[in-house]
Amino acid sequence: MNKHFVAIAIGLIATLPAQNLSAHGGATGIVKERMDLMVDMKDEVKKVSAIFKGQREYDADLIRRAASLIEKHSGDAMTKLFPQGSLDKHTEAKPVIWEEWQRFQELADEQTRLAKQLHAAADNQGQDEEESDNASMMGTSSMMGTAPAESGTQTAGQAFKALADNCSSCHERFRIEKK
Ligand code: HEC
Repeated sequence: MNKHFVAIAIGLIATLPAQNLSAHGGATGIVKERMDLMVDMKDEVKKVSAIFKGQREYDADLIRRAASLIEKHSGDAMTKLFPQGSLDKHTEAKPVIWEEWQRFQELADEQTRLAKQLHAAADNQGQDEEESDNASMMGTSSMMGTAPAESGTQTAGQAFKALADNCSSCHERFRIEKK
């Protein structure tokens, strides 16, 4: 075997965890499991988000599939991957999770509800969706003559934003931002 190559390979492996080249950075066990769960969800969010950015054809089935997967990964399915004190050097989870467990759990449960709503709203493409790059849910109650959306008449875009905001709320409080 080529000695030079081996040396380089070993060098690479040695620096991997420190540089955290992949987000996973060599995590194992339950930390890896929850990272995988999160990444699965991110992949779905990306696909759906491409629709609302106009980069992909509207596809209600895709939205429903994404919503189902995310729902499956919510609530207990998520929180059970965060047993008390499960931190290692790869984790981005903050210890405050276990001090504020109830709040953490509520965010995971809220995700179940929001994923169901997205599933239910998948066919409701809405009419003025394209306009809203600045999808502001707060404040302005939208276009002239359009009634503010009630939960039953939510558009898929609104439901998706609410779901994605919930991901961010949890991350802001409970996940270390690694740059
Ligand atoms: C209840 C809180 C909570 C919710 C809700 C949540 N996350 Fe996370 N997420 C975390 C925590 C905590 C971590 C850090 C886990 C670790 O590193 O051990 C994380 C990590 C991640 C990561 C990085 C995974 C990696 O490989 O390091 C991604 C991507 C992610 N979340 C996406 C999402 C998406 C998308 C959603 C919404 C659909 C979501 N998360 C909802 C708490 C949450």
